[in-house]
Amino acid sequence: MKQLSLLVLSLTTFALAVSHAQAAEPLELQKVMKELGKNMQVITDGISREDWELVAKTAPMIAEHPQPPMSEKVRIMSFMGAKMSDFKAFDTKTHEAAHDLLHATHEKNGQKVIDAFQKVQSACLSCHQTFRAPFVAHFYGTSGK
Ligand code: HEC
Repeated sequence: MKQLSLLVLSLTTFALAVSHAQAAEPLELQKVMKELGKNMQVITDGISREDWELVAKTAPMIAEHPQPPMSEKVRIMSFMGAKMSDFKAFDTKTHEAAHDLLHATHEKNGQKVIDAFQKVQSACLSCHQTFRAPFVAHFYGTSGK
């Protein structure tokens, strides 16, 4: 009996350790975000050089960015609950703004490209302001970086 309870205890400790390790593991979404950040920098560089081809090539990587796997989406959805529709709306706004940016590059009008780029940045910011802190607190148990 004593041995059994020791076994149960060590199994529980093991399970806790595993779930803790999982909680701290970065989400695929974070990798997607890092890529978005890099692509935004490439676009800034493209604008500085008036390299509209580079901007046109990079905008779709933001508009059609990869998505996290289904299992992770389920975790995100269960955390978001009713707020999931707001989260999705911010995502849609970002996709649309990136599409508009692509169209602006076709005219090779620098000011229009900058205006469209600013809308993409605002779309990123809206979601971050609303969701990033609670998201990071929930999935990593920290107050953010
Ligand atoms: C629908 C919501 C949403 C939108 C839209 C969004 N993000 Fe994020 N972003 C997040 C969340 C949530 C995190 C925190 C993810 C994490 O730490 O796992 C994040 C984190 C980040 C990070 C930090 C990643 C790191 O190294 O920890 C960067 C960079 C980033 N986003 C860039 C962008 C850019 C650029 C855009 C727009 C093109 C964008 N995001 C649009 C929700 C969003």
